[in-house]
Amino acid sequence: MRHKARHTRLISCAAIVWTLIVLVQARGTTQGSPGFPGGPLPGITNLEFSEFRLGVDDFMEVETAEEGLGPAFNGTSCAVCHNLPSIGGGGVILEVRAGYRDALGGADGLNPAGDTLIHMLSTPSHSCQPSIPEDANVIAHRAPIPLFGAGLVEAIPDETILALADPDDRNRDGVSGRAGIVVDVATGGTRVGRFGWKSQHATLLAFGADAYRNEMGITNELFPNEFSFGISAAQMKLCDPLPDPEDRRDPVTRRRGIDNFESFMKFLAPVARSHADEQTREGERVFSAIGCATCHVPALDTGASAHPAFHRKRVELFSDLLLHDVGTSDDIRQGGAAADELRTPALWGLRFRRPLLHDGSAATITDAIERHAGEAALARRGFGQLPAQTKDTLLAFLRSL
Ligand code: HEC
Ligand code: HEC
Repeated sequence: MRHKARHTRLISCAAIVWTLIVLVQARGTTQGSPGFPGGPLPGITNLEFSEFRLGVDDFMEVETAEEGLGPAFNGTSCAVCHNLPSIGGGGVILEVRAGYRDALGGADGLNPAGDTLIHMLSTPSHSCQPSIPEDANVIAHRAPIPLFGAGLVEAIPDETILALADPDDRNRDGVSGRAGIVVDVATGGTRVGRFGWKSQHATLLAFGADAYRNEMGITNELFPNEFSFGISAAQMKLCDPLPDPEDRRDPVTRRRGIDNFESFMKFLAPVARSHADEQTREGERVFSAIGCATCHVPALDTGASAHPAFHRKRVELFSDLLLHDVGTSDDIRQGGAAADELRTPALWGLRFRRPLLHDGSAATITDAIERHAGEAALARRGFGQLPAQTKDTLLAFLRSL
């Protein structure tokens, strides 16, 4: 108990320090502040800023079994995985997925529903801990994705992403990006997915609700049932007798935890580049010249919005948000993505991201580039043929992101 009290004190202390940092950041620039990622977008209202702060608190809140954590889970708070270089960022924890490889080389899910997530942790007495079936023949890992600038990504219209798609490679550049079409559980609408390594979600509300249930075992209005692979519903009730959904509306504000996560992520500013000089500008030209920018599209624009912070903003994310086969994928079918497809990751904030690639298997930027094949084979070859000095120039640009 004493340990728990100290823990709680440490957390509230961290929350106060965080709030102060965020307050100082409140007047950042459109593309974030170079000093300290994690502040709010400029131009949000005072009310939105208070929702952002509520969101930070909920994002960091460590949950217990009494509050709904589990029975199977991957982390006790969002922030345990999204904390580098600050709250809302990436992290070093890798998730586990598993499946059955079929005749086509892709993996079917572990059950008819297509589930592939294997939780790493469970609440005592651990009788709801899922295990990897003996005959599963695909194991995959997934690294966390930083959330900086996610609200701007959400505000990019579906049509903008669809306009970049070239599924049959009609322009014959060897690159055939496809939009990942998903049904958004938040609205029921058919949308272009853009969040997750497989573009499996289109909105932050849906991703946050999915994460609350799947990462933390906290059921909510969008994901109302507990899930722990291979464990019966009856056993699950014994492990976690709390009524579902566990994420209840606050009696005063009427907001759910998932609303607070959404606000935090929506109003979180992107990471600004560290600097721009002659070398980084030259590096960016090389990046385009060898074909990296075909998929890592330097900027997309948000659409018309009643909110000035999201109205026709240039989003310098370095991604087309499309699905591609670059030869590295994990054989898992998910959302609208085929087994061999992954969404082009955004490269903003790259200097703070390690490990790299969806499964965290690349330590350096050069490693990550050298792993590109498939649709990125031409660009990869272009990189390999660069004179040493030009390669350094390109890497200097990438390290400034
Ligand atoms: C156990 C670690 C872990 C925890 C806990 C966790 N996440 Fe994540 N998060 C991940 C991983 C891994 C991914 C990439 C998953 C994928 O695409 O397969 C991810 C991706 C995301 C994305 C997609 C971002 C993008 O731009 O594509 C969002 C949004 C997100 N998480 C929100 C949350 C929220 C909200 C919570 C808390 C309710 C949370 N996460 C808890 C590990 C975690
Ligand atoms: C055909 C589309 C495509 C092209 C062309 C392409 N990439 Fe990528 N890139 C991807 C995809 C998809 C991934 C994710 C692969 C994975 O995670 O396994 C990726 C991952 C990366 C990563 C790791 C990012 C992270 O957060 O883990 C870096 C760095 C990167 N690319 C840089 C480059 C550079 C530099 C070039 C040019 C030499 C290039 N890419 C060309 C699609 C592409």
